[in-house]
Order: sequence, then structure tokens, then C-alpha cells
Amino acid sequence: MPHRTVYFNGRFVPETEARVSIFDSALMYGDMAFEMTRTYARRPFKLREHLHRLYGSLRLLEIDCGLSLAEMERITLETLELNLPGEAADVDWQIMHDVSRGPLDVYRTAFPEGLRPTISVNCWPLITHMGGFAPKYASGVHLVIPAQQALPAHLVDPKAKTRSRLHYQMANLQAARMGAGRWPVLLDPDGFLAEGPGWNLFLVKDGELLTPEPRNILLGVSRATTIELAGKLGIRVHEVNLGRYEALCADEIFCTATTYALVHATTFEGQPIGNGGPGPIFCRLLDAWKQLVGIDFVVQARSYAERLPAWESQTP
Ligand SMILES: Cc1ncc(COP(=O)(O)O)c(C=O)c1O
Repeated sequence: MPHRTVYFNGRFVPETEARVSIFDSALMYGDMAFEMTRTYARRPFKLREHLHRLYGSLRLLEIDCGLSLAEMERITLETLELNLPGEAADVDWQIMHDVSRGPLDVYRTAFPEGLRPTISVNCWPLITHMGGFAPKYASGVHLVIPAQQALPAHLVDPKAKTRSRLHYQMANLQAARMGAGRWPVLLDPDGFLAEGPGWNLFLVKDGELLTPEPRNILLGVSRATTIELAGKLGIRVHEVNLGRYEALCADEIFCTATTYALVHATTFEGQPIGNGGPGPIFCRLLDAWKQLVGIDFVVQARSYAERLPAWESQTP
């Protein structure tokens, strides 16, 4: 039975003992910044980039978590080290940072030790996430446009990664009503494609990459990595306003995110993209990603899928 350890408010504790108060501002307002990093070969991938984004989000939320970025990095590596022995050597991990302002001041008498930010750093084996995701590397995903729109930066800046995510959940629910396994692409208030609830969007047209300009989106670490790799492969990238028209006329479409890196779309609003399979530019980028991280994460995900039922049956 796995015994995972969490960094929680200054201490390393068993995962089951890390509990956020019902009076926490995170629960009251969704007032919490977070990050999701993953490991490749048990080493965090671009942890510094994720932590810079976390501290940017905290600045926007006006939360001083009391730890420097270097201290947070050290705590993160220590949390991972403590958890690695709990799984086989070929298991990679999700690393989650969650930081809120802490309990609301009006409830201070319930906290005689004083009010302070809530900080959690936890690790979870990617067997579940990637085992479940594995078939999508072959099948691709179906993108649809839900009624729910993205929040524009002049209302709530999406560059901050926060737990205030009701609009993403609404988009997920609406997409699910449009058909099983549909993934929503949110439009911004001007009708341009923004992003998905946990991923960034790329189109391919005439051998070049097009991706929504950064105004109304989260600046994904995987998006930046993909742009960087495209540069190395000599593929031109344009950050521009994109609409339904551009998506429907695209040769290829794909999505990027930390857990799975990139996955191709087979349809957009019910219409096939290219020949419905992974396109040539996508395949070049996928290979470049695998080389960069030193792991064939598609093969890895397949192996996790096979082991997932046994892994879950060990878990209480
Ligand atoms: C809204 C949103 N867009 C994009 C992304 C992709 O970001 P990254 O590549 O850093 O995982 C995420 C990740 O969770 C997200 O929540």
C-alpha cells in the first residue's frame, strides 16, 4: 500500500493528514494559485519555469507565501525524494503546488496558532493520469466549441494559474453533453480561439504553426517548449488571433499540456482535420519532445495503462 508524503504548511506529513480548512480562502473564493509539474525519468521537467509561473500567480493574487522560490524548489525536490521509493523505478510523477492566502480573517478565533497561507506540495504517480490517457495518443481527441467563453484578461488574467476554474468546468460539462470524449476549446469574448480547460492549442497550416496570441490564455510551459522545439526544427511559429475558420481549414490541430505533452485532434466541430490521424508536423514535434525529455512517453503511457488495474487494486 503506497504511503505518500506531502509537504503541508511547514511539515512533511502523510498524505491522509494534509487537510485544508473549511474556512480557507481557497474554498471561499477559489483564492489559490497552483502548479502542475511532471517528472520524466523521475526528474522534474522545467520545475523552475513552473515555479516562476507560480510566483507570478501569487503576485497577482497578492499572496506572500513566506517561502522564496529557491526554498520552494528545495521543498519540492525533497517531497519528490521522499515519495520515489513508493513506486517502481519506471514510474513518473505529477508534482502539485497549491498555495492559498489561508483561512479568512473572520474565522481567526478558530486558529489560535495564527493565520498563515496554506501551502501544499504533493506528488502522485502518473500511472493513473497517463494510463487513462494512453489510448488518446492513438485515437486523438475531438474538439468542440462550448457556449462557455474564456475569461478575458481585463476581467481575470488567465496568465495566473488559479483554482478559480468554474468556467473551465462549465466548458467541460457542455462539451460532454455534445458527445462522449469531446474536448472544449473556449473562445475569448472577441470570438477568437483561446485554449482548453487544461491545455493550449496549435494549428498547422502549410507547414507552419499557428497558436493563439498570449492575451487571453495561460502561458503553458508545454506551449513554450513546443515553440522552442519548432524553432530548432526550422518550423515557423505565429502567435495570432485564430477563429473557427482557421481551425476548420487547418492541416493539423494539436493540444499541449504538462501531463501528456501533446496530442493530435482528429476532428474540430465534427469535421475531420487532415486525414484524421497525427499529421507530419505533429509527428516531428512528438519525436523532438521524446528526444528532449529522454523518454518515449507514449510507450510509457501504454505500459501504465496495462498496469493500472493492478495498481488501483493495491490502493485502499
Ligand atoms: C487553462 C490552461 N491552459 C493551458 C495549460 C497548459 O499549461 P502547461 O503546458 O504549463 O501544463 C493548462 C495547464 O493546466 C491550463 O490549466
